[in-house]
Amino acid sequence: MAEHTFPVILGRDYAGVVEQVGSGVTGFAVGDQILGGVPGMSPAVHDGAWAELLAVPAQAVAHLPDGVDLAQAGAAPWAGLTALAAADALDLRQGGTLLVIGATGGVGSLAVQLAATAGATILAPASRGHRLPTRPGVAEVLDRGADIAAQLRQRHPDGVDALLDLTSQSPDQLNTYATVVGDDGRIVSSLGAAGKGPGRANVARASSPSPSPNPATSRPGTPTAGPGTRPQHPSRTPAVRVVGSERGGRRPIGGAANVK
Ligand SMILES: NC(=O)c1ccc[n+]([C@@H]2O[C@H](COP(=O)([O-])OP(=O)(O)OC[C@H]3O[C@@H](n4cnc5c(N)ncnc54)[C@H](OP(=O)(O)O)[C@@H]3O)[C@@H](O)[C@H]2O)c1
Repeated sequence: MAEHTFPVILGRDYAGVVEQVGSGVTGFAVGDQILGGVPGMSPAVHDGAWAELLAVPAQAVAHLPDGVDLAQAGAAPWAGLTALAAADALDLRQGGTLLVIGATGGVGSLAVQLAATAGATILAPASRGHRLPTRPGVAEVLDRGADIAAQLRQRHPDGVDALLDLTSQSPDQLNTYATVVGDDGRIVSSLGAAGKGPGRANVARASSPSPSPNPATSRPGTPTAGPGTRPQHPSRTPAVRVVGSERGGRRPIGGAANVK
């Protein structure tokens, strides 16, 4: 079990509506629709986004893009950032073949779309009957229940250009897939399993502590900094208060935020 300090508030992503803006914050106004991510879990799981009200730093918040609703946005931030970091590390500008382990998940489904847009040909294992074959971007579906490397060697004797592994917990586990990556290939893990060596990169670890504590989250009923008041934590800029419910009576998503 992860280290934790009660009270524990789960969740890291959120989307909602700005309820209040701290006096030193620019770029956000009451009523703005925003999305963001609670920065980290340091030193233990404690702050989270599954609350009605959050206090979060302004630099951790972005305006909701046109065409994205709050439900989509509430699931996107960390999975999206991890997928973007993976796409950067994979350096897919030249296209090529990419094996994605975990393409069916949150990070994987976004990474596949980014990689396909960049011109990569994507190969991915999936369980029989999974909807992966109908997902945009996946060119070849491998049988997850069979030997992945053997299937790939049969179809692509020269190997693949890159591997994105979103499931392996260790380099040993990841290397069972990495055997099919060419000598100059790139190997990326979101679980710190890429190991060391040329072309290998770890883009995120969900359990990594953030460099500084994140006391920004507040629970319903917790006093929050408002316009003209001092921030709760003097080392931070003042707060925007963001309510996690969409106007019009839809269910709350994520939580409210005090954005510093
Ligand atoms: N989401 C984030 O914000 C975030 C940020 C940083 C790091 N990470 C890390 O990145 C990893 C992926 O995150 P996620 O949010 O995408 O998780 P997720 O939604 O649970 O997706 C993982 C996917 O991988 C599939 N899978 C598991 N084992 C597999 C295998 N051997 N072969 C092929 N597919 C397999 C799972 O399918 P089944 O469910 O059918 O087994 C699932 O669809 C996690 O380990 C997480 O700790 C996530």
